[in-house]
Amino acid sequence: MSTTVEEALLTRRSCRAFRPDPVPRAEVERLLDLAARSASNSNSQPWRVHVLTGAAKAALSADLLGAHDEGRRSAGEFAYQPGADQWREPFRSRRRRFGEGLYRDALGIEPGDAAGRAGHHRRNYDFFGAPVGMVVTVSRLPLQGALVDAGLFLQALMLAARGAGLHTCAQASLLDYHPILRRHLGVPADHVIVCGIALGYADESHPIAGHRTTREPVSAFATFHGALDDPG
Ligand SMILES: Cc1cc2nc3c(=O)[nH]c(=O)nc-3n(C[C@H](O)[C@H](O)[C@H](O)COP(=O)(O)O)c2cc1C
Repeated sequence: MSTTVEEALLTRRSCRAFRPDPVPRAEVERLLDLAARSASNSNSQPWRVHVLTGAAKAALSADLLGAHDEGRRSAGEFAYQPGADQWREPFRSRRRRFGEGLYRDALGIEPGDAAGRAGHHRRNYDFFGAPVGMVVTVSRLPLQGALVDAGLFLQALMLAARGAGLHTCAQASLLDYHPILRRHLGVPADHVIVCGIALGYADESHPIAGHRTTREPVSAFATFHGALDDPG
């Protein structure tokens, strides 16, 4: 199968329902090898990836779900996710539209149905049923550039996955239980946890499989300086 970069970009979506079919270890290694071709500041390659399958993934998920169900959420040692009331416009409105599309339109969960929303959110902690769960960390020395590099790595991994007929979902929600991740994975103190990633084959029969997000037009975020056909 060959996938163009354009096809990979256009078919990538955050997949939140996976089939249990396993992904061979050699395939995961190949995707990570491709993702590691990403650019990074001075080729520093500050990322580390923990790959969980089988019993290791089940044990982590059990602890995450246990902590989640008991409300044992930990304050972030490092959190880039604003609290629900901290989002400013225009991001606040975009986030609300995203939530409506996911919960109400795709899952039939009405805005006031807190239990319904929580029930879906909880599925983050078993990686939405994906056979592979990953956790990406970066060196905090220095942090800002490493986070940029991590973003490039994540996108490359997601696109490489599409090239293999696989889907992904980045998961910042795992950060709410960072001490559990650190304990299971042995994340060293000089690394910060960026996010989890679920990897596997999409369950296209699940109602959520039809969920798609929209984007602002180029004219809303790009400013062109100089004539477009300016030869430079
Ligand atoms: C760093 C990062 C963290 C994310 N964390 C979560 C998460 O915890 N749970 C989830 O369901 N989606 C998560 N997402 C997915 C976003 O909601 C999604 O990318 C966005 O709504 C755009 O939709 P699309 O990926 O389907 O195009 C995350 C995305 C990124 C980039």
